Amino acid sequence: MDNPTGLPQFPESYWTASTEIPTFSALDRDLQTEVVVVGGGITGITAAYLLAREGVKVVLIDGGRLLNGTTAHTTAKVTAQHDLIYDELIRSEGEEQAKLFYQSQQEALDFVRATVEQENISCGWENHDAYVYTNTESQVSKLKDEYEAYVKLGIPGAYVDDIPLDVAAIGAVVMNHQAQFHPLEYLKGLLKDFTERGGQVFEETTASDLDHDETPTVFTASGNRIDAKYVIQATHFPYHDSLGFYFARMHAERSYVLGLKAKQPYPGGMYITAEEPKRSIRNARQADGSELIILGGQSHKTGQGICTINHYEELQMYAKNALELDEIAYRWSAQDLITGDKLPYIGRATASHDNIFVATGFRKWGMTNGTAAALLLTDLILDRANRYEELFSPSRGTSGKMLGSLIKDNADVAKHLIGGKLDFGSKRAEELSPDEGSVIRFNGKRAGAYRDEEGKLYLVDTTCTHMGCEVEWNNGERSWDCPCHGSRFSITGEVMEGPAEKPLKRLTP
Ligand SMILES: Cc1cc2nc3c(=O)[nH]c(=O)nc-3n(C[C@H](O)[C@H](O)[C@H](O)COP(=O)(O)OP(=O)(O)OC[C@H]3O[C@@H](n4cnc5c(N)ncnc54)[C@H](O)[C@@H]3O)c2cc1C
Ligand code: FES
Repeated sequence: MDNPTGLPQFPESYWTASTEIPTFSALDRDLQTEVVVVGGGITGITAAYLLAREGVKVVLIDGGRLLNGTTAHTTAKVTAQHDLIYDELIRSEGEEQAKLFYQSQQEALDFVRATVEQENISCGWENHDAYVYTNTESQVSKLKDEYEAYVKLGIPGAYVDDIPLDVAAIGAVVMNHQAQFHPLEYLKGLLKDFTERGGQVFEETTASDLDHDETPTVFTASGNRIDAKYVIQATHFPYHDSLGFYFARMHAERSYVLGLKAKQPYPGGMYITAEEPKRSIRNARQADGSELIILGGQSHKTGQGICTINHYEELQMYAKNALELDEIAYRWSAQDLITGDKLPYIGRATASHDNIFVATGFRKWGMTNGTAAALLLTDLILDRANRYEELFSPSRGTSGKMLGSLIKDNADVAKHLIGGKLDFGSKRAEELSPDEGSVIRFNGKRAGAYRDEEGKLYLVDTTCTHMGCEVEWNNGERSWDCPCHGSRFSITGEVMEGPAEKPLKRLTP
């Protein structure tokens, strides 16, 4: 068994458990439209909503159910305080760019706030101050530098010695008037407006290929085509690389979340530690009026988490010791993509693609980044000027920092490409207990084995179909995860997250 005491056995996010999303049928014919939005998370739905409001004919497709990707597994703080970033951005990109970045995120937050009000969306919207705090002497100077950056950039905030939350802290930088919400309730509201304006939605419709001629065509796995003037790839990882080499320019990082039953009234505020391992804290009001504390943290590169259930256990221990909370109602985890310079890629997929757009690399701050992406892409499609176009351009110059990170990430890939092939695991298939997975040796070769709760054995070839690295078992989520570029596969080998497009080869036990 891969499941320790006290944790819900199967992961489920509070957001998906507490809302019902309308269902849509799969596409079963060819279509023509002005814009195809591929991917129904915050980025895709917001872009579809904005374009439809401008009278553009939009088709929105998703390979699975809508709102079942990273957006359903977030912690949903809506803030321009992306951890510690502004001092770093001033140093690497200059004050002007750092200020532009802040403004893009604050505008996205203001847009969501105004939309919630305008569309009258009931989504647990609450305004809170956001804190990055520390209880470690060595982090205090970093927090003070970040506050200096706030002052330079005109960000409303303060440096404080204590925080309202009852955890040990010796200093914090606070950004005023930020927010949190229930992301799926909010996006349900946008979706309603989109469909009422005639927007078409298709679920279980995977985009499998993309023809980028003068007018692009999206081909679906079921054999249909959608011809359009523009395509937005809002698939988290761009499903079609379009020679943008996104797999070599970003890496995927997973984080873990617990939904804990609160014992005390929550003092307000959203919190994240300055130091690793991160601890991210907010509250959420449940339908019955009771309060949930949402605690996140424990990030690691996808496929490199070793025994992933341990990360939930670490959070469980922190909840018990620091927050005195032990009743876990939900647990979930997810990953996000991080670029070399920590800024997202939003815009034309490459300089030679006028009509194919991507939006990715949100660094676990996609509530504002995804919204900023939708606002920017809407402007690009409507041929309107947008002052963030250059800042976020996927074709932007490769700064020294970006190149350094690129070399590091790709050296890491080389290490796993070679090292993974030599690791055959320590178990044999017969030794697996119910609900246990492991790398095994099968017919002399490396294979992935999972025995389900009824004792049925599933075997896959562990060679990742993207570029040949060896996938590793993720016992927290029961999936096969690739340590090179973050692709994930189900126990039957189906692709759960890209860049891989093809399933793992099934082996017959
Ligand atoms: C643990 C965690 C906590 C986070 N907390 C915060 C937070 O507090 N605040 C914040 O701002 N951000 C946070 N983030 C980041 C944020 O959740 C993400 O950046 C954001 O949700 C990404 O949204 P998206 O729409 O780009 O992608 P997704 O929500 O993943 O949507 C992509 C969609 O594309 C579909 N798709 C993929 N491939 C195809 C294909 N080929 N054809 C058709 N459809 C396809 C998928 O099914 C999916 O529905 C967090 C991230 C993590 C991992
Ligand atoms: S995701 Fe690139 S090799 Fe697996």
